[in-house]
Amino acid sequence: MKKTMKFSSVMLALTIGLTACSNGENAGEDKKDNQKTGGKSEEVVKIVYARGQDSTKATEKIIEEFEKKHPNIDVEFREMPADTGQQHDAYVTMLNAQSSEIDVMDLDVVWPAEFAQAGYTLPLDRFIEQDGVDLSKYNQGALAAGNFDGKQWAMPKFIDAGMLFYRTDIVPKDQVPKTWDELLAKAKEFKGKGGTQFGYLMQAKQYEGLVCNAVEFIASYGGKIVDENNNVVVNSPETIKGLKKLVEIAKSDVVPSNITTFTEPESHTAFIEGQSPFIRNWPYQYALANDQEQSKIAGKVGVAPLPAGDKGSAATLGGWMTAINKYSKHKKEAWEFVKFMTGPEGQKISAIYGGLAPTLPELFKDEEILKANPFFAEEGFVNALNAAVPRPVVPNYPEVSEIIQINVSKAIAGELTVEQAVANMEKEIKATMQK
Ligand code: GLC
Repeated sequence: MKKTMKFSSVMLALTIGLTACSNGENAGEDKKDNQKTGGKSEEVVKIVYARGQDSTKATEKIIEEFEKKHPNIDVEFREMPADTGQQHDAYVTMLNAQSSEIDVMDLDVVWPAEFAQAGYTLPLDRFIEQDGVDLSKYNQGALAAGNFDGKQWAMPKFIDAGMLFYRTDIVPKDQVPKTWDELLAKAKEFKGKGGTQFGYLMQAKQYEGLVCNAVEFIASYGGKIVDENNNVVVNSPETIKGLKKLVEIAKSDVVPSNITTFTEPESHTAFIEGQSPFIRNWPYQYALANDQEQSKIAGKVGVAPLPAGDKGSAATLGGWMTAINKYSKHKKEAWEFVKFMTGPEGQKISAIYGGLAPTLPELFKDEEILKANPFFAEEGFVNALNAAVPRPVVPNYPEVSEIIQINVSKAIAGELTVEQAVANMEKEIKATMQK
C-alpha cells in the first residue's frame, strides 16, 4: 500500500516538476503547484541522496530524523565509491548525461566550482534567502569552498583538516614532535616499541590524498601552489623545501616500504591494528581508533597539530559539502534535505554518530558533541581547523590535482628531482589554467 502511494506521488511530483519547474531556481513554483493540485502536499515524494560509503551510523540517523520531520519526503540512500576520485568520476558520468536519478549529493570541497561551471548543480542562493539561512554562522573557509562566481552552489556539511594522531601508551606527551625533523627522529625512536612495525603512516598513493599531504608539507615551509589571485606560484624555494621533506619521509624506513599504495583506509587500518606510533589523518581517525569493536588501540590515542616546517604547522582543508543535482525533479524537497543535513540538527548527528567536525562553530560548544569527541575542545584541533589551507579553488581542479599527483609521485619514486617536479608543475598548471 505504502509502495503504491509512493509510486503515484512520485509520478505526481514528476508531472509537477516537468510542467512547472524546468530550471527549478524558483523555489516558490512547487508550492504554487501543490496548492493548484488541491493540497496534495501530503503525498510522499521520494528523493535520492548519494554519498560515499558511510561506515558509521550517521547517514542512517540523519535520514531517519529528517523523515520523521518531513513525513511527505522519503529519502533513499545511494552509496557511491569510497575513493573521492572514483566518486567524482561516477557523478560526472551521471550528470554529463543530465540524469535525474539522484537529487542530492555530497561533494568533496574541491569539486563545487567544477560542478557549477559544468552546470551540474543548482545555485542555492534563492533557497537560502527564502528560508533565512544565516550563512554568517558557518565556518567561512568551508562556506567559501562552495562559492563560485558569486553564488553558493553547495552547503558545508563537515570540515576536515590533516592532524597528527599518536599512541599515548608509546609516546609521552612532552615528546610529541613539533617539527617534521622531530617527527622523523621520533618515528625512528618509537618504531618497534609497543608492538609497532612502522614509525609513521601517511597517504602517499598517487591520488587526491597525496595532494592533501603535499599541500601540508608545502605550506608548512611557506610555499603555495596558487596565490590569492590564482596566479601559479608553485616553483619557489619554499615549495621545493617542503616537498623535499615529504620525499625524505616517504622514502625513509619509518614508513611502510609500500607507502605509495596507501590511501586513508590502508593507513587507518595499520594504525588501529597497532602497527605505528604516529599517523597523519583526518579527524574521523579519532572516533575510529577509539571504537572498541574495530580498534586494538582504543583509549590510547592522542591528537596534535601536524608537525611544523620553517613557517609553522599547516593542515590541508578538506571536508564535504552537499549540493542539488540541477536535473533533479524534486528540487524543493531536495533543498529541505540539504537544509536539514547541513543545518545544526543534521551536523549534530554527523558529529555524534560519525565523528565529523561541524562547519557551524557554535556546535563545538555542544555538550553531547564534546562528550562524543572530547578532542573537539582542544586548542590544537580548533587552531588547525581555523588555519586549514585550501587546495586551489578552480573549475578545472581535477586536472591541477592530477599534475600535482603525477609529479609528486615521480619525485617520491626518484624519477624526477624535486626541483624538476616543481618546475613541471608550474609549467603544466599554468598551461591547464589558461585553457
Ligand atoms: C577527505 C577530505 C577530502 C579529501 C580526501 C582525500 O575525504 O575530506 O577533502 O579530498 O580526504 O582523500
